[in-house]
Amino acid sequence: MVIPNESGRYTEMKYNRCGRSGLLLPSVSLGFWHNFGSVDKYDNMVEMAKTAFELGITHFDLANNYGPRAGSAEENLGKMLKNEFKGCRDELVISTKAGHFMWHGPYGEWGSRKYLVSSLDASLKRMGLEYVDIFYSHRFDPDTPLEETMGALAHVVKQGKALYAGISNYTAEQTKKASDILKTLGVPCLIHQPSYSMFNRWIENGLTDTLKEEGIGAIAFSPLAQGLLTDKYLNGIPTGSRADKTVGFLKKEHITPEKVAKAAKLNQIASKRNQTLAQMALAWVMRNSNITSVLIGASSPAQIKENAAAMNNTVFTEKELCDIDAILAD
Ligand SMILES: NC(=O)c1ccc[n+]([C@@H]2O[C@H](COP(=O)([O-])OP(=O)(O)OC[C@H]3O[C@@H](n4cnc5c(N)ncnc54)[C@H](OP(=O)(O)O)[C@@H]3O)[C@@H](O)[C@H]2O)c1
Repeated sequence: MVIPNESGRYTEMKYNRCGRSGLLLPSVSLGFWHNFGSVDKYDNMVEMAKTAFELGITHFDLANNYGPRAGSAEENLGKMLKNEFKGCRDELVISTKAGHFMWHGPYGEWGSRKYLVSSLDASLKRMGLEYVDIFYSHRFDPDTPLEETMGALAHVVKQGKALYAGISNYTAEQTKKASDILKTLGVPCLIHQPSYSMFNRWIENGLTDTLKEEGIGAIAFSPLAQGLLTDKYLNGIPTGSRADKTVGFLKKEHITPEKVAKAAKLNQIASKRNQTLAQMALAWVMRNSNITSVLIGASSPAQIKENAAAMNNTVFTEKELCDIDAILAD
């Protein structure tokens, strides 16, 4: 059981303003994509969520389809909010999303108003919530007018089913258009959720400029490249790791010798900084002033503790940054 309203959990964490909004997000947030589904152990997910919250990680990120089974991560969060986190709702920022496949037929994915509104209703039911803090369009829909997708986000905010609107995986150009539409609807875009890590720097190519201009915050997902940017795969694929599991999105073929060789070189720089590779990879994402929060995943409470400590050293020397760039460009 977590004790609500305890001052101790807020002493270490740094909170950053999300774009030009009133919302502060923790430097590190916790995602429920893997290890919070019906195939996973409930006790472990409770311990992870408790560990995170006690470290001041006040933001839990979900989506309609997180599991597996799709929807079960939201059900598990709902169970925790009723039991272990009873009384803590106002200290938590809960987000969910819709965009990817959720149910069969023409209304179970992408960006129509029909899908987004009914998906959020189902998410709220699974989590036992009256509202989420952030509701995202999970991906851009090339076949639905953007006015309709953004209109649906603004609609649920005006209904009070979400406090803020967000977008995920939108390009810079799509983001600018979405932001313009949301502004005209009186519901500014709070946040963008893109992938970003040392192995995946696409946002540096225009998106972050757009976010800055529009006053939109950024929460970077898969900052550890699903575990590749840790010391985990330096000597093979350990049993029970994400790449070893049959469920999940990291496959054995993603653990290439090239990636592992780069991770090994990066690991040497991390050691000199007195950080683990995971900590340096997160600190490297945090060094980008456009990033409001790094959105980590975890399979154990120990990983969350290790990762949260990344924020203790986010300063890089010019030489370190050059050396990292050289390894990544190799
Ligand atoms: N918007 C989107 O389209 C989208 C897409 C993907 C993810 N997301 C969000 O982003 C969140 C994070 O994504 P992610 O899980 O891919 O993030 P990640 O932080 O890159 O990877 C997390 C995985 O890395 C391993 N790991 C973490 N800390 C470690 C450590 N200290 N030492 C060794 N291994 C460590 C664990 O895998 P093991 O299981 O091997 O231990 C963990 O599950 C998701 O939960 C979700 O909320 C959003």
